[in-house]
Amino acid sequence: MVRRMPHNLVITIPPASPSSRQPAPSTTSWRSGGGRRGFLRLFPWIVGCTIVLWIFVLRADRPPLRDFTALPHRPIDGHKPRPYHPPYKGAGLSPTATWAERAKTVRSSFLHALNGYQTRADGYDELLPTSGGRTNNLDGWSLTLVDSLDTMWIMGNRDMFRESIGKIVAIDYLLPKEEYSRFYEVVSHHLGGLLSAYALSGEPVLLTRADDLAKLLLPAFNTTSGLPAVGINTSSGALSMMGQESVSWANILSNQMEFKYLAHITGRVEYFNKTENVMRKMFETTTPTGMFPTMWDLDKGVPLNAHYSAGEKSHSALHYLLKQWVMTARTDRRSLDLYLKSISYIINNLLYITRKRQLLYVTDIIDGELTHRLEHLSCSLPGLLALGVHTLGISLPLRERELHLWAAQGLAYTCWVTYTDQSSGLGPEEVQMEAWLDEEGEPMGRWMSHFEEWEKSGKKGNGPPGTKQSEETVPAVTEREYVPLKPWYLLRPELVESFYMLWKSTKNSIWRDRGWTIFEAIERHTKTEYGYAGILQVDQTPTPMKDEMPSYFLAETLKYLYLLCHNDDLIPLNGWVFNSKGHPLPVFEWSSWEIKRHGMAL
Ligand SMILES: *[C@@H]1O[C@H](CO)[C@@H](O)[C@H](O)[C@H]1NC(C)=O
Ligand SMILES: *[C@@H]1O[C@H](CO)[C@@H](O)[C@H](O)[C@H]1NC(C)=O
Ligand SMILES: *[C@@H]1O[C@H](CO)[C@@H](O)[C@H](O)[C@H]1NC(C)=O
Repeated sequence: MVRRMPHNLVITIPPASPSSRQPAPSTTSWRSGGGRRGFLRLFPWIVGCTIVLWIFVLRADRPPLRDFTALPHRPIDGHKPRPYHPPYKGAGLSPTATWAERAKTVRSSFLHALNGYQTRADGYDELLPTSGGRTNNLDGWSLTLVDSLDTMWIMGNRDMFRESIGKIVAIDYLLPKEEYSRFYEVVSHHLGGLLSAYALSGEPVLLTRADDLAKLLLPAFNTTSGLPAVGINTSSGALSMMGQESVSWANILSNQMEFKYLAHITGRVEYFNKTENVMRKMFETTTPTGMFPTMWDLDKGVPLNAHYSAGEKSHSALHYLLKQWVMTARTDRRSLDLYLKSISYIINNLLYITRKRQLLYVTDIIDGELTHRLEHLSCSLPGLLALGVHTLGISLPLRERELHLWAAQGLAYTCWVTYTDQSSGLGPEEVQMEAWLDEEGEPMGRWMSHFEEWEKSGKKGNGPPGTKQSEETVPAVTEREYVPLKPWYLLRPELVESFYMLWKSTKNSIWRDRGWTIFEAIERHTKTEYGYAGILQVDQTPTPMKDEMPSYFLAETLKYLYLLCHNDDLIPLNGWVFNSKGHPLPVFEWSSWEIKRHGMAL
């Protein structure tokens, strides 16, 4: 695939100030002297010109469009280049033809879902897949269409993509009188969707629409603290908490990639300023744990509770910490530091294993109490860890690299087990894990304790506790060591997303195979006449369906499955970064004039 970086074409601000230009050599020195004296006079000029020429030749040597897919070769520590280890290609890879066929099958499913939406719910947010109805459950700005644009492009449906632009142009970004727009959702679905489609296709009108929308959303940062509000009236810029008392960490951070990429391709300072101000708040805030809690005070801009989580109110924020660093060609180190601090907290405090099956899970701590709950949303954590290991490479010390990768594999396995244990082969929304307690009721399952013990005993066996990948037979319900709290599967992407990241970064084909198994279960249990619908009881077949086809099914679930099956590296992990709704944005590098103009601390 030819990668276009059209954003280089739209920057209109002249980069160099007049003062930085080299003065032209004065011609008088040529005339005024001759012989040896003349040469001595000319000498500084000759040296000067040689340097200037050298600089120009060097600069001309640089390709105008940088290919960030080659990033592993770049020195990321600023000292010496990192050796590049080609990915391990095991013998387990399935035959090419089979995977190509599978990719095509995923594409057919995407077209089935999109066709249902376009014939039954065109212009609305989402299709109702069992009744064939339609709904405006976000803002009525054709949510499913916008969310599907980049998937269309990636799957090669270019005519359909171009046809859709006419509908995108017609969206007014206004709301019915009585409503507010949810900032988090609009940024990650709409803005992310438009920007990703623009970056992939280079269609300028998509950038215009992204800019139109971002301008309307910008007043969301007009709060006392500068942290974005929960809801915004896109007509007036008025803000609303939409019934909430405080704002989640995910809500605060899940806009950094979109607005910063937009600042880069439009040259608009305010997109950078408003979002960087939020990051500044993060850098200034210290917590007793080094990790940020779930809820924040919008007026004071400070954390409000002691609830630490990798789930609903946090997981997307964790993604944006690492991914900002990846997106800016691995320059935003402060953001990376926050990521590493948070992960270190999570690994040390939120990872537990069960007693018998040794299932590794991530849980929450609320005011010092463990909940031992595992959310499906947290199943994106293993993918994030894998992306971190992949992009950090050897700049992450060996022990931490191993630790992160073991954690990723163990967590992904547990999420996978919550799928394979069920008769539908699909996993529940949330489970209550059976805590491993000693006789006094003290928790025994802290993963880090087991990990350290394993290290001390000479790293015996195939890996630390909680990381085995065996395909065991499905245990009786009472032996599973967890019970579903929310027994439904709503076509969610988090686990296939993690499988995609693990497959790309480790080249271990078990992740690909497992992803395909999930796809087959989706086909078998969620397909309807019009599209796909979530199911209400994962351990019951047939099961009642939920009359909903969330737009993320097309934006994320099917996209990651397609990329997982496709034999080409269509969206290389080093050249693109997925936002929290699966929209890939290109890696770019701030130029020196941008760094100066924005007053960046890089
Ligand atoms: C949003 O702003 C418009 C224009 O000022 C106004 O007519 C509408 O009532 C506002 N909506 C809400 C929910 O406040
Ligand atoms: C920000 O809010 C203040 C008061 O709440 C208001 O006066 C001002 O016009 C707002 N600015 C923008 C850009 O919306
Ligand atoms: C951006 O922020 C910097 C530093 O806080 C400030 O000097 C500058 O005026 C801001 N620019 C805009 C356009 O808000």
